[in-house]
Amino acid sequence: MTGRPGIPSNILKNIPLFSSLSEQELDVISQMAVRKTCPADTLIMSEGDTDYALYVIESGRLKVFLMDETGKEIVLDTKGPGDYFGEMALLDDSPRSASVMALEGASMLVIQGREFREYLSTRPDIAINLLEALSRRIRILNEQVKDLALKDVYTRLVKVFRQLGEKEQGRYVIHQKMTHQDLANRVGSSREMVSRIVTDLIKGGYIKKENNRLIISANLPPRW
Ligand code: CMP
Repeated sequence: MTGRPGIPSNILKNIPLFSSLSEQELDVISQMAVRKTCPADTLIMSEGDTDYALYVIESGRLKVFLMDETGKEIVLDTKGPGDYFGEMALLDDSPRSASVMALEGASMLVIQGREFREYLSTRPDIAINLLEALSRRIRILNEQVKDLALKDVYTRLVKVFRQLGEKEQGRYVIHQKMTHQDLANRVGSSREMVSRIVTDLIKGGYIKKENNRLIISANLPPRW
């Protein structure tokens, strides 16, 4: 579903990318944007698409992923309120580098890419903000490459548990529903391998499932 053009500037003000802009400048951006809402499991963009809109998330959680011809996928990142995506095609004028799907109902502001790119040339501070974020992403990617090449699946899984889990009373709690396949897609392994490790960890008392939540002991050994 797509809303009318023009988004109240106070909504844009709360988005870190635009927080340095004045009311007037926010009005300019707001005129380039439309609101789009979608239910869970909607594919918002596919790798290789050629359109140049920038998406800013108002609510909901989305995953950024790559898929091969057999349907096997790897999740690169998950994004939530205040995050944005779709800036890469806009910056290098190339097809979408990854696919994005809503994991839950989501509301997004869609900013027309061509206009926004022109606007960027007048606002180096926003362009630098985008560059800083790209730089952070390359650092994360470097770490992912290192983990994939040099660490075993168990170690990668422990890392994902710690990234997804919220620290509560000395343990990590993952509130979002994650199937073994979802975890496998994050660590770049098979569902069978992840299931084997999780079963062993449950047997060892390091993990338990409680009301759809995964509770992970802080004593989880760094190596198994
Ligand atoms: P774009 O290539 O236009 O469309 C897909 C978007 O997914 C991309 O812009 C980024 O916003 C986002 N994206 C691609 N790769 C990654 C990654 N490794 N980590 C986080 N976000 C990404």
